[in-house]
Amino acid sequence: MAESTLIWQTIAPGIWRLKAGRPSTLSPASVMNRPPKTAALQSMGEAEFPFDAADVKIERVGGRIVVALPLGSEESLYGLGLQLLKLNHRGRTRYLRVNSDPKQDTGETHAPVPFYVSSGGYGVYADTSRIVTLCCGSSVRSDSGLSGNAKDRNRDSSWKATPVSDRVEMTVADEGLDIYVFAGPTPLDAVRRYNLYFGGGALPPRWGLGFWHRVPKSYSADEVRAEAAAFRERGIPCDVIGLEPGWHTRSYPVTYEWNRELFPDPEQFVRDLEKDGFKINLWEHPYVSPDAAIYEALQPFSGSHTVWHGLAPDYTLPEAQAIYREQHEREHVKIGVSGYKLDECDGSELTRNSWMFPAHASFPSGCDGEQLRQLYGLLLQKMTDDLYRSHNRRTYGLVRASAGAASSLPYVLYSDLYDHRDYVRALCNSGFSGLLWTPEVRKARSSEDWVRRMQTVCFSPLAMLNAWADGTKPWSFPEVEPIVARYIRLRMQLLPYLYSTFANYWAEGVPPVRAMALEAGVLVREQAGSGRFDSDEFAYGGAADKEWDDQFMFGDSLLVAPLFEGETERIVYLPQGLWYAFDTGERFEGGRTIRVQPGLEKIPVFVKDGAVIPMMAVMDHAPRAGEKIDLELHHYGTSPGKFRLFDDDGETFAYESGEYRWRTAEVTVDAEGRKSGSVSGTEAGWSSAYGEFTWVFH
Ligand code: GAL
Repeated sequence: MAESTLIWQTIAPGIWRLKAGRPSTLSPASVMNRPPKTAALQSMGEAEFPFDAADVKIERVGGRIVVALPLGSEESLYGLGLQLLKLNHRGRTRYLRVNSDPKQDTGETHAPVPFYVSSGGYGVYADTSRIVTLCCGSSVRSDSGLSGNAKDRNRDSSWKATPVSDRVEMTVADEGLDIYVFAGPTPLDAVRRYNLYFGGGALPPRWGLGFWHRVPKSYSADEVRAEAAAFRERGIPCDVIGLEPGWHTRSYPVTYEWNRELFPDPEQFVRDLEKDGFKINLWEHPYVSPDAAIYEALQPFSGSHTVWHGLAPDYTLPEAQAIYREQHEREHVKIGVSGYKLDECDGSELTRNSWMFPAHASFPSGCDGEQLRQLYGLLLQKMTDDLYRSHNRRTYGLVRASAGAASSLPYVLYSDLYDHRDYVRALCNSGFSGLLWTPEVRKARSSEDWVRRMQTVCFSPLAMLNAWADGTKPWSFPEVEPIVARYIRLRMQLLPYLYSTFANYWAEGVPPVRAMALEAGVLVREQAGSGRFDSDEFAYGGAADKEWDDQFMFGDSLLVAPLFEGETERIVYLPQGLWYAFDTGERFEGGRTIRVQPGLEKIPVFVKDGAVIPMMAVMDHAPRAGEKIDLELHHYGTSPGKFRLFDDDGETFAYESGEYRWRTAEVTVDAEGRKSGSVSGTEAGWSSAYGEFTWVFH
């Protein structure tokens, strides 16, 4: 393909799209089909194309299309979806196939997203329903002029297995794909443009940010009621109870119909739990049992291959969607079920048990197994989110597979893999690609492991105990119950902070949980292709030898540095500026690393100088629409600061038509260092979610 045919179309300020070849109409962006947040993108302003467009080359090799993009010698490459095993992909080849069991560091994952974010301050996304292979500076062309870098392994100790490369190459076995470029100037700006272009970030209902508990499989209504009551008796907040396999007549494959032996009156059950402040979330997966009432109707719209002898419906088809939707609406949504856990939608034929339909399966819409596997999770999220939208109720749920263009979906990824460190790395990684992730707790080797995992999960997009197999409860290790309870309560106290943080994800595209590499000033900007830093500093202010994949930002102001079983101390990297310990207010100089020894009862949390952290009282469950809460506004340090507090009903989509207010909580500091705080008001007649404000200065 000649260079002259490469036409970059400006589609929003700082965003360009190139049609390479003949892109298929089936892709993540076309499935999502959500309008860009144009006003927010406009206020980010215009930006220059981040590298020389003439350096982009497209060619066809065999059945593949190959897109080459320039890469500077010092650039790091982040993102690529929910990567559990690596933060910086520079020098690696990534095979972005959906995989439910991604144990190896190949790029396969529950949520492969061909979107990379460069430390140079830009991002590139390939919109396709097919598996993308990305050579992230791992491929070298013979005409690159890099042969002068050849070294002899036997004589030169600086020889490296991965040679120096000047390019990223993306390849896909398809007729074409859309390439998007997102400008910075910072890596966070590139991520924001990506999120905003695809509709902004998800805003969960307030109850979604409370604590979740999933009960063991095959629990009866009475067992669930008893477990729910135990939370209230112990004063441990809980907002959502999740039902696992067994709530329906058949689970693998699934009917989606209530099992009347275990749940004689589902409607009453959901209503009673709602009265006690619990939402119900239902586990399910896409493969439809021959015993399901919708089986016959779905059959003509399903694939050539089954899964567990159930149908694999082609949910790219409106007809299949309508059948699923009508049943779910009638039997779940209308009786008050709050949402779903969309399981098992991430198979590839090469996982441990080979349960998924193969890549060569065919579907009535004309797509094949590879495409539907890559998109299944996205399709299920979109269908169910649209269903709740049509009822003007926000949902928040779980999903095991996702894809590109997904930032607006109110779903959180999870995994059957269970390594605490990998779970924290996934927290760091998810924010690069418009994804949310929960390091859910299931079981533990020891009470120490239990506490450490519980502390982490309380600082994540979804704080959940998934007891489906182990029957654990927050009080399963009695010797540490007070610590666990304290963190679950703290999660509730931080709800106003977290909720407004998510509102900023919706409005400005800022990921609520993110890696240190997305913090201002942490990465040093480098021009793509130039191989040069425009600053003498090294990334991470001199601490570049470590990736910092074990600590993350929770909102704009809190830095969380988990400890893992067996550790009594750890090193924390604090970016430039002053920082304060969240609980004691102790002051730390940033731009360096510190050693902390927090004891089992604490997870290290640091607050940025000048930050305002809004907190509420502990409640059994999140406040409902119309329920006013009083706030304590905690200010840290000596600098003035602001926090934008989101004020809306917390449950419906009224905010999308302007029914919200941003309230500014602001601290000024006078010449003598005296601080005073104020919160902007609202017009008369506005029914605020907030009552009294009290300031606490640290
Ligand atoms: C797994 C899922 C678990 C649990 C289980 C039920 O695939 O990851 O969280 O829901 O299915 O069978």
